Amino acid sequence: MGFWKSLFTTSNTMTAPPSQKEGGVTVSPTAAPDTRIFFSTDRDIDLYDLEELCDAVGWSRRPLRKVKKAIQHSFLVVSMWEQRGSSRRLVGFSRATSDHAFNATIWDVVIHPDFQSKGLGKALMKYLIKRLRSDDISNITLFADPHVVDFYRNLGFAPDPEGIKGMFWYPD
Ligand SMILES: CC(C)(COP(=O)(O)OP(=O)(O)OC[C@H]1O[C@@H](n2cnc3c(N)ncnc32)[C@H](O)[C@@H]1OP(=O)(O)O)[C@@H](O)C(=O)NCCC(=O)NCCS
Repeated sequence: MGFWKSLFTTSNTMTAPPSQKEGGVTVSPTAAPDTRIFFSTDRDIDLYDLEELCDAVGWSRRPLRKVKKAIQHSFLVVSMWEQRGSSRRLVGFSRATSDHAFNATIWDVVIHPDFQSKGLGKALMKYLIKRLRSDDISNITLFADPHVVDFYRNLGFAPDPEGIKGMFWYPD
């Protein structure tokens, strides 16, 4: 078990109250005394920081005004930050849309390549699921790129349950 993973499993800080909107939730301390990784549900995110994060994993750029609107209208926005002293770096992001009753769909799951394979993506997803479940949402869906199907499968997501297919309509 890696360093980060052992810290996650020994940390109980992902059980923050669902009402907490800002200020973040400490995921773990790190080796350096002035460095920590934490979650935040504050949706006031610098869009250029987010664009840089998405660029780092090779995602196509999207108009920032639409990204801003999507964040504003999401049900839940979770960002992950590395804090070193007084400086913060956005290292992970995801969001979920919802009908606030039955269904939520998770979008834009991303961890910066410098921070991948340390358990952060899994921690981010578990945190999202915990928050959605705490709002009594039972049907959580997402659209997985082909290379991450097993990442989500390991978190309990089933592709095509009972033969149900995701279907898409695109403009011509
Ligand atoms: C997919 C992504 C979020 C995973 O984040 P991560 O922090 O690297 O993943 P973790 O370190 O938390 O991995 C958790 C587990 O999933 C596994 N895993 C990670 N990426 C995987 C992948 N692409 N396929 C299958 N398993 C994967 C890990 O081996 C680990 O397994 P373990 O618990 O048995 O040790 C990250 O690689 C990423 O941001 N990729 C680019 C953006 C992207 O493709 N997002 C998904 C769009 S649908």
